[in-house]
Amino acid sequence: MNKNINNKPIGIFDSGIGGVTVLDKIVDKFPNEDYVYLGDTRNCPYGIKTKEQIMSYVRHAIRYLEKQDVKMIVIGCNTATVNSYDVKSSVGIMRIIEPTAKEALKIKKEKDNDGKIIVLATNYTIDAKGYDRFLGDEMIGVRSSDFVTIAEAGLQNSPESLKVCEEVLKEAKGKGKVVILGCTHFGLLEDDIRKVLGDDIITVESSACIVGSVKEELDRIGYNEKNETGKKGHISISVTGKAKDVHIEWFKKEYDGIFEVED
Ligand code: DGL
Repeated sequence: MNKNINNKPIGIFDSGIGGVTVLDKIVDKFPNEDYVYLGDTRNCPYGIKTKEQIMSYVRHAIRYLEKQDVKMIVIGCNTATVNSYDVKSSVGIMRIIEPTAKEALKIKKEKDNDGKIIVLATNYTIDAKGYDRFLGDEMIGVRSSDFVTIAEAGLQNSPESLKVCEEVLKEAKGKGKVVILGCTHFGLLEDDIRKVLGDDIITVESSACIVGSVKEELDRIGYNEKNETGKKGHISISVTGKAKDVHIEWFKKEYDGIFEVED
């Protein structure tokens, strides 16, 4: 087991604050780890940008986290994941789409075999068939980038949010019970989504599904020593935009602060 690795933080990034839902779930499971979070809020939303733009943001974010000497990188963003398969890194990269798709397929088999899996994701993720490569005919995709704006502005659970949900989800009503929240921002809108699609839907949140991959990577590089210290880890959150524009009041874990990165 490598001692140095144990003392390095886990890096997580997203286009904005959506990945904080990923951070939240991972910290629940591994509270003694240290975390460096990067929200590329200056370039958010990714979901309406071009492939070239998103690839360049992803490369930039990965380089930033490597400089922070992280021991692995969790891409807490579905849209970035679609454009990350060719990006190389000196540390392991955890991607969010495959574990989410697998979990949804399992649930569909058990609970709603005749229905379709409804995939709610950004316009880019849907257009680039980010989930189709794992789900094929089992799914229908709904372009839902409008939800990102609501979540970044902290407007979930408001009449405005409900109106947007009604509009975006029109085509998905009655098509299936298993719903993938295929954008890390969308867990924040779950109550509004349920109001429209019905309370009997079974949501599969990409944030929760990545935890298993993180566990596998920690096992691979040997994390036990760190977790046995019993000491709570540090969480540092950085954004590429203005810290004052960040709305994460719902994030209840202790963190060192919200820092603005220069570049
Ligand atoms: N949170 C990101 C995702 O999981 C995308 C939000 C955006 O459009 O930037 O896809």
